[in-house]
Amino acid sequence: MRRPFVAGNWKMHGSKAMIQTLLAELVEGAKPLESVDMAVCPPSVYIDYVKQGLVETKISVGGQNMADVAEQGAFTGEVTGVMLKDVGCDYVIVGHSERRTLYAETDEQVANKVSIALAEGLTPILCVGETLKERESNVTEKVVGSQMQAVLDKVGVKAFAKVVVAYEPVWAIGTGMTASPQQAQDVHAFIRGLVAKQDATIAESLIIQYGGSVKPNNAKELFSQTDIDGGLIGGASLNAVDFLAICEAAGDACSK
Ligand code: 13P
Repeated sequence: MRRPFVAGNWKMHGSKAMIQTLLAELVEGAKPLESVDMAVCPPSVYIDYVKQGLVETKISVGGQNMADVAEQGAFTGEVTGVMLKDVGCDYVIVGHSERRTLYAETDEQVANKVSIALAEGLTPILCVGETLKERESNVTEKVVGSQMQAVLDKVGVKAFAKVVVAYEPVWAIGTGMTASPQQAQDVHAFIRGLVAKQDATIAESLIIQYGGSVKPNNAKELFSQTDIDGGLIGGASLNAVDFLAICEAAGDACSK
């Protein structure tokens, strides 16, 4: 049985004041939530601050992005995986669709980042997903398949023992247009099947999160699907009550 995992992607939101309030509520509410792994991914300048605020809890911290080079050096504005690890991150989001579309990240760069993250002892949360146009053109599996394959080719299937995949249909992100539980399940099963072709054991234990307009009122139905093991939460992770309700739903629904 896979242990559910819910991560909050705060994207470019936050301030020290906002974080103080949010963490106080999370720390209080997360205490009874033992049956789910939880993480928050703040903007990188706040990682250390958030980490300090969570020392007494089991909530992990993750980065939202990292450089696609391993060594420190003359890369103005970039942050290495080593630095994320140094300030206490366990996870790093890699290949989010906002990085792929707004910052033109390629499959090759994403694969490099996954490889570097693993080498630094960080668990990459590898995001994959199709646009609305791609879904309407019936190429969802082709698109998601090639995003996955680029990383499988680079790091090998065994490395997926330490990778989390997040299926995030681009059209569902921040739009309120959640994928139906069946639509999400179909792609999750496809992703697991792709990995299973190379290693059934790794595929069986692979955590595949769903992301895209997950809210307290749709979380349980999504997480009840056989191949959905939790979520990567954007907007709703900025509200402690909503985020905790979603984590609770994962704990309930994923014990399958
Ligand atoms: P929303 O939950 O705001 O749709 O964002 C999802 C997401 O992009 C998480 O990485």
